[in-house]
Amino acid sequence: MTDVYRDIPTLDDLGDVAGKRVLVRTDFNVPMETSASGERVITDDFRIRAALPTINWLTERGASVVCASHLGRPKGAPEPKYSMEPVRRRLAELAPGVELLENVRFHAGEEANDPAFVAELVADVDAFVNDAFGAAHRAHASIVGPPRTLPSAMGQLLQREVEVLLHLRHRPKHPFVAVLGGSKISDKLGVVEALLDVVDALVIGGAMCFTFMAAQGLPIGDSLFEPDQVDTCRRLLAQAKPIHLPEDITGVDADGNYVTFGRRLPPGAKGFDIGPGSAAAFSDIIMDSRTVFWNGPMGMFEDERFANGTRTVAQAMADTKAFTVVGGGDSAAALAQFDLDDRIDHVSTGGGASLELLELGDLPGLDALRKAPNAR
Ligand code: 3PG
Repeated sequence: MTDVYRDIPTLDDLGDVAGKRVLVRTDFNVPMETSASGERVITDDFRIRAALPTINWLTERGASVVCASHLGRPKGAPEPKYSMEPVRRRLAELAPGVELLENVRFHAGEEANDPAFVAELVADVDAFVNDAFGAAHRAHASIVGPPRTLPSAMGQLLQREVEVLLHLRHRPKHPFVAVLGGSKISDKLGVVEALLDVVDALVIGGAMCFTFMAAQGLPIGDSLFEPDQVDTCRRLLAQAKPIHLPEDITGVDADGNYVTFGRRLPPGAKGFDIGPGSAAAFSDIIMDSRTVFWNGPMGMFEDERFANGTRTVAQAMADTKAFTVVGGGDSAAALAQFDLDDRIDHVSTGGGASLELLELGDLPGLDALRKAPNAR
């Protein structure tokens, strides 16, 4: 176990919670859509269900639980589409009797970490539990404020996330491979650099592969890429660890026809997925590894014509004997779409938080708990 983890109080460190009122910071930032009748509907309640073990642990021991969460990115004032009401209804079905505050981001004091808002949150509360892994990288009032005064602990979800991700960072079984996709290398540069210290190889798909291919001098047609990151990619390609890039690309030619190209895309062509040869090669690498971390889809999997790369990687993640960890909302959504999510060892509830924990080894929410009055 690492130092980062050992100093943080866990639920047992709260002592007897019977009769106590416990504030639980959860990450109920769930995907929603508007129905034909104009109602906001939750499309995936994974994050609500993920908080139940902690909520049940507390209520079974006689505590009364009040949850607090953000939803979306309102700008410090109420916005009806970000109301917690649909989440409150689902929570009432899953954990009857548990309260849920209105969206903490309806208050300007949340993102500003305003002590006056923290005081409002902790009034009439006896203890605090942070189970909001997905938001633990935000130094916001509801994350870092309550542990300043209240006995505090990390919930079971936060604990499991930290255990798994720090295990990858510090003690992975080798060969350890990280499979990265998504559109922007600039968003993931920090984690790529940190991962290069621990992985045996990186596998790159998604639109970010075009920036790497451009760095190798390959023509990429009109594919999405980040010109200002080409030098960075060239530097990454020159370091010692292997970086596997696609050997073929699926996309459309200048006339809009669906085509599988090799590694050179003609003028006007656009790549939207790794090709079948690359998908098979990436799958073999995943099957031969003992630890795999996957973040970011291999292509535009929402469009069935460009879903093969992401589906093949998801299937390999499900089939491999390696310890498998998936971080990031899009990769988790892809797993759910292909009905493979229950065949992964750990699907992280955090996107940005999982990358930041892998990169830095600590998060503001963890540091705040480490300084709580009841911390060891
Ligand atoms: C997430 O969805 O990654 C978390 O809920 C954090 O949301 P945020 O990026 O709006 O802080």
